[in-house]
Amino acid sequence: MSINAEEISTLIKKQIESYDSDIEVSDVGTVITVGDGIARAHGLDNAMAGELLEFSNGVMGLAQNLEESNVGIVILGPYTGIKEGDEIRRTGRIMQVPVGEGLLGRVVNPLGQPIDGRGPIETTKSRPIEAQAPGVMDRKSVDEPLQTGIKAIDALVPIGRGQRELIIGDRQTGKTTVAVDTIINQKDQDMICIYVAIGQKESTVRGTVETLRRYGALDYTIVVTAGASDPAPLLYLAPYAGVAMGEEFMYNGKHVLVVYDDLSKQATAYRELSLLLRRPPGREAFPGDVFYLHSRLLERAAKLSDALGGGSLTALPFVETQAGDIAAYIPTNVISITDGQIFLQSDLFFSGVRPAINAGLSVSRVGGSAQIKAMKKVAGTLRLDLASFRELESFSQFGSDLDKATQAKLNRGERTVEVLKQGLHKPLVVEKQVMILYALTKGFLDDLAVEDILRFESEMNTWLDSNRPELLASIRDTGKLPEDSEMKDAIESFKHTFLPTSN
Ligand SMILES: Nc1ncnc2c1ncn2[C@@H]1O[C@H](COP(=O)(O)OP(=O)(O)OP(=O)(O)O)[C@@H](O)[C@H]1O
Ligand SMILES: [Mg+2]
Repeated sequence: MSINAEEISTLIKKQIESYDSDIEVSDVGTVITVGDGIARAHGLDNAMAGELLEFSNGVMGLAQNLEESNVGIVILGPYTGIKEGDEIRRTGRIMQVPVGEGLLGRVVNPLGQPIDGRGPIETTKSRPIEAQAPGVMDRKSVDEPLQTGIKAIDALVPIGRGQRELIIGDRQTGKTTVAVDTIINQKDQDMICIYVAIGQKESTVRGTVETLRRYGALDYTIVVTAGASDPAPLLYLAPYAGVAMGEEFMYNGKHVLVVYDDLSKQATAYRELSLLLRRPPGREAFPGDVFYLHSRLLERAAKLSDALGGGSLTALPFVETQAGDIAAYIPTNVISITDGQIFLQSDLFFSGVRPAINAGLSVSRVGGSAQIKAMKKVAGTLRLDLASFRELESFSQFGSDLDKATQAKLNRGERTVEVLKQGLHKPLVVEKQVMILYALTKGFLDDLAVEDILRFESEMNTWLDSNRPELLASIRDTGKLPEDSEMKDAIESFKHTFLPTSN
């Protein structure tokens, strides 16, 4: 047998010419630098923004910066095991989290992994954490109330299912309490709740979970948490993981409430990531796309059209302010994205007005159309009354003689403030809210001492339960205000039995 050298060399040449190394080069890359939770890799020419990448030791990463010669990657896990020169692979998909009923009652991290020590999550379904928000035609207007059980909110700044309402305030002003009480009040209201805790102390989250469990609210709640000690990428991802879990229920025709507590900490985590990725900093050193960070999240709240099952996803984002400054960058951004805000104020909180809602600075742009008729009737003028009371109050401090009408307004105002106070974890059903507000606006409380008002309310509620259950039921079932005569009769009958504190 003779070997033709010529033939062999042409064969080899041909093979070299047609050798196609594209797949190799684009799907596997090499880590160039790693540190501070960020890695850079070259060779990932086809990587997509937001794509999930896998390091050779199994840790995952998110492709963030797609640059000409390399890709900036956020590492979703411990980065100490990753070295320069390590291999990194594309996965071809974006990040997903497990979704479904199996998550109810569980505490998970933003990757959907359980951290409550109660075994694996039983579900086979998952959803990408980034998804397109429902379009205009897929939506309908907000027309059902979301009862928070908090008088000051349900009466003054009502929230509708599918709405986005910002809750904003300094630290320690009762923000988390508003969220927890709202979740507790969703019992038997056909609502699934998702509480996303971002950058909070583990002990605080634990306390919240315990409270929810104690009030039997954990059964319909998913807690997603990225703690203060978790790496920044997890804090950044937590809200998207939460909303993805919510969407699964919404698109199945259910009603979902998602609370993001809080988005300031998410924005700070995102700023950290962006600076490490060497993105140019802008105002307050946040990257230019920090508005998009929140708008793409909150746009996913919706009330779906009937054709799509009529489900809803209500978003309650929280923002923490510094010294009450609601004109800072993140607060103004989120105010402009949401359908209203509830402003909690420290000085109200410390003067004992809890929940410390500033009625003047709080609005709800769509919820009013979802209020039940009875509530709309009794709460109609409450907000204006309260505002004029605040005005008069500062004026009357000068100690000048007050005419009767002014005195009466002040009197009513003081009682209004008192009625809107509410204790910790004591959400009130809407029919009872209507009763006390009716008593207030019709002047039944004017001759009571301010100190007696909260006791009057709680004793009246007990009395109504045993003496006028049908009146409560009619408000609850029809949503309409009963005849004045019936309402007055009930309140007066109770008032006869009420013993004022004598001193
Ligand atoms: N309506 C209320 N009645 C009585 N106490 C309340 C009320 N609301 C909140 N508190 C108390 O005030 C404290 C702060 O409340 P909370 O943790 O809800 O505030 P926060 O604004 O979320 O605080 P942080 O900024 O630390 O997250 C808690 O100890 C809570 O028990
Ligand atoms: Mg809090």
